[in-house]
Amino acid sequence: MQMNYDEAFDATLRPRHDLLSGEEIQAAERRRHGRLLRDDPECYAMVDAFKLHRAHTDAFKLAIEGRGPFMGQGQTVCAVDLGAGAGNVAAALVEAWASEPPVRLTYIGVEPHSLMRRLGVEFLRALAPPWLDLAFAETSTGLSIPRADHYLVTLNYVLQQPGVTERDLRDWAALVATLYSMGRTCLLCISPNSISPALEELDRTEALRQEMSAAGLVFQLHSASRRMDRRMPREDSRGWIVQPARGADWHNVRIERYEFPL
Ligand SMILES: C[S@@+](CC[C@H](N)C(=O)[O-])C[C@H]1O[C@@H](n2cnc3c(N)ncnc32)[C@H](O)[C@@H]1O
Repeated sequence: MQMNYDEAFDATLRPRHDLLSGEEIQAAERRRHGRLLRDDPECYAMVDAFKLHRAHTDAFKLAIEGRGPFMGQGQTVCAVDLGAGAGNVAAALVEAWASEPPVRLTYIGVEPHSLMRRLGVEFLRALAPPWLDLAFAETSTGLSIPRADHYLVTLNYVLQQPGVTERDLRDWAALVATLYSMGRTCLLCISPNSISPALEELDRTEALRQEMSAAGLVFQLHSASRRMDRRMPREDSRGWIVQPARGADWHNVRIERYEFPL
C-alpha cells in the first residue's frame, strides 16, 4: 500500500526509533550532532534518521522549489543522491512532484552506513508511488545508471561530514562528468548556513568545485539561502513540533545549484 510521508514515517522510522533504549539515545545524542561515520553504531544512524528526516526533506524541497520546472511532460529523471541517509531527497521529490510526476524517476541513494541504507529502503518502499524506482549503493563507483532525459546529483547535508575524503570528492566529480556526457545534468548541494568555525573547517564545497574543474567540467553556479523552521518529530506521540529558525532574518539553509551548459 502506498502511504503519504507521515504514514511512512510512523510505519518505519518511528517504531524502530522507539525500540532504542534511553542509554542508546543519549549516547547517540552526545556524539552525533548530525555527523555519521560508516562504522558508527546503529543507534547513531537511527537517531539521526528519526530526528532529521522531516527537516532535511523540507530543506531539499525548498531547494527544488527554487529550481523552477525541472522536466517537461513525458520525461524521465535519474537522481543520484550522495550521502543519502534514509532517502530524504527521494521523499522530497515524491512530495514535490506528486501532482506532475516524471514518467519515471530512478533514485539511487549512495550511503556508506548499512543501517541507513536499510532504513532508506524500508521508508521509501512504504512511500513510493508507481513512478519511482529505487536502489541504494554503498559507494558512488560502479553504479548502474539508466538512460534518462535529466540527471540530478544531490548532496543534502553531506559536504560538512567528517567522513568525506579527497577520494570521495574526486569520485563525485567523475560521476557528475559521466552523467553530463549522458545528458542534461544538475548538481544540488544543500548545507546548513552556519557561523560555526568547526563546521566551516569541515566544509568541502570549495574542494568539490576544484575537483569538478579538474574533471573538465564547466559550470554555472546559482547560490541562494532560505529561512526554514524545522519540523522535529514528537517523542511521545505522532506528529511534529515546529522549531522556529533563530532570528527573523537568519537564513539557515544554504542552496548551491550547479548547471552544466550543454
Ligand atoms: C547529515 S546526514 C544527511 C543524510 C541525508 N542526505 C539527509 O538529507 O538527511 C549525512 C549523511 O552522509 C553520510 N556520509 C558520511 N560520509 C560520507 C561519505 N564519505 N560518502 C557518502 N556519504 C557519507 C552519512 O552516513 C550520513 O548518512
